[in-house]
Amino acid sequence: MEPSIYEYPAIFRRVHMEKPVEIGAEVDFMRKVWRRHLKRPVRRVLDVACGDSPHGIALARAGIAVAGIDHSPTMIAAGRKAAGAAPIRFYRRSIERFRIPEPPFDAAFFMSETFPIMTDNRALLSHLTSVGRLLGRGGLYCVDIDRHDGVEVVGARKLWRRRKVIAGGVRVDVREYHCPIAWSSGMHSIYELECTIHFPAGPVVTRDIVPVRYTLPSLLELAARACGYFTMVACYADLSFTKPVEKCYGRWLGVLRRV
Ligand SMILES: C[S@@+](CC[C@H](N)C(=O)[O-])C[C@H]1O[C@@H](n2cnc3c(N)ncnc32)[C@H](O)[C@@H]1O
Repeated sequence: MEPSIYEYPAIFRRVHMEKPVEIGAEVDFMRKVWRRHLKRPVRRVLDVACGDSPHGIALARAGIAVAGIDHSPTMIAAGRKAAGAAPIRFYRRSIERFRIPEPPFDAAFFMSETFPIMTDNRALLSHLTSVGRLLGRGGLYCVDIDRHDGVEVVGARKLWRRRKVIAGGVRVDVREYHCPIAWSSGMHSIYELECTIHFPAGPVVTRDIVPVRYTLPSLLELAARACGYFTMVACYADLSFTKPVEKCYGRWLGVLRRV
């Protein structure tokens, strides 16, 4: 089986077209959301699907205790290395259902638009229950989700985009495909990401098959209530407190409060 792009932490950010300033802007916005919706200081934070936890590391360096969960040992190892002495603990867990031996957190967050990979209701509810159990009463869970529309529904696997990126001095050929789905699946699309990384010792091909559930604020609100641990208190578009969600360009942030 071909490896995942997450086996190459130094490369995946460039492949996802992330700009270096984005992490800082996201952390700043989240801190404003906490000030607005949580009437107590945030001292302990959980980073869900943390990867190498760039947000967690920034918060830990600002004096907040952080724990991160992710299923990739490679991403976790990269996070431990990058964190150095910053107060952050990593746990290898699946987002769908998890427990960690930690006292309650004030806030949790799930960034980088990965939440919609939980495509069935059972996973969605057990995920929210897992986070809810780890938050103190009134604690906040911020979930970042990309705007889902305009994806072509296809009857056969179809090339969507081709591009080249340079990451760490290495050329990467990126091909993105849309794959067919059953109408009844509740999914938006199956997205396939193929990267050919041209290492000096020879090329390596990675492949990630990512099912994406069509996730709207109304679904997040429903799931939050259905799990019994949360209500949705706000929904913000494109890191703005003033832009209406209907005018969202790229992604939106759902803010859930632990009841
Ligand atoms: C796009 S990266 C985001 C990492 C980090 N949050 C960031 O903003 O840089 C997505 C992460 O989700 C993790 N992931 C994907 N599916 C997962 C699952 N089922 N359980 C746990 N982690 C998962 C991957 O290993 C990867 O580190």
